[in-house]
Amino acid sequence: MKIAKSIAETRAAARALKSSGKKLGLVPTMGALHDGHLSLVRLAKQQCDAVAVSIFVNPKQFGPNEDFAKYPRSFERDREMLDAEGVGLLFAPTVDEMYPPGSTTFVNVEGVSERLDGASRPGHFRGVTTVVSKLFNIVEPDKAFFGQKDAAQVAIIKRMVCDLDLPVEIVVGPILREPDGLAMSSRNAYLNAKERKQALVSSRALKKVESSIRNGTEGTNQLIEAARQVFADEPEVRVDYVAIVNPETLESVENVRNGALIAVAAYVGSTRLIDNLLVEPTK
Ligand code: PAJ
Repeated sequence: MKIAKSIAETRAAARALKSSGKKLGLVPTMGALHDGHLSLVRLAKQQCDAVAVSIFVNPKQFGPNEDFAKYPRSFERDREMLDAEGVGLLFAPTVDEMYPPGSTTFVNVEGVSERLDGASRPGHFRGVTTVVSKLFNIVEPDKAFFGQKDAAQVAIIKRMVCDLDLPVEIVVGPILREPDGLAMSSRNAYLNAKERKQALVSSRALKKVESSIRNGTEGTNQLIEAARQVFADEPEVRVDYVAIVNPETLESVENVRNGALIAVAAYVGSTRLIDNLLVEPTK
């Protein structure tokens, strides 16, 4: 596996991997890798001839009072995991390489970036779309792989690729969960034993919504109420949002008849965790 720190080296190595018509897949990450990330690497391996992974804790997507400084970093371990998966290129730039002094350009997907996590984390998605566009320009992948875990991120990146005519196909992988249902996340490392148990309330709430839909409830207000009742069992967990939205625009829908994204975000202690469930049209 080639490890590249500079943009020039990465561009050259990525072009070499794409030589003679080979398909290159990119999996962008912030590191502290878990099986959720690796599932995307495996999906990329299935669909492409070569795979590039980026590890970059992107300061522009963290708010001033968020966890940029303490975000888990485990480069050596990540490197070994990616090597074992047969990744061809690992791009791990420094902040200065990505944002040299004087850089002022942002990519912003208006509207959709202000919904769900964008409402609670102003500027977050602008940071994501800026770094992801840079990664696409540097690596020039044929396909890029993202997790459904970050459903709003998926909607925004798809919108950006469409609006800017970027020559990359976005592939979305399913949410990987721990055996007890907790969605895998690098931030789960922040949870102590008590919080780790409390954190299960999000996936329980989504399961409750899923079963209510199966039992015939279609109205958003009733479904949100059902989820909130489950959250009430863990009074120490502070709900940020429970939302039922159109998966592409992230705008609220009145019922789930045409399919919907059920998304939740909650603070467990000081850790903000998200989870979601994509429901198919019921008719
Ligand atoms: P990060 O949180 O490291 O996630 C990298 C990718 O892994 C994202 O596409 C995310 O949706 C996916 N992922 C995380 N947990 C997952 C799970 N449990 N199951 C399946 N996929 C999962 O998302 C980011 O980094 C950043 O915003 C990034 C896109 C790299 C831009 O900085």
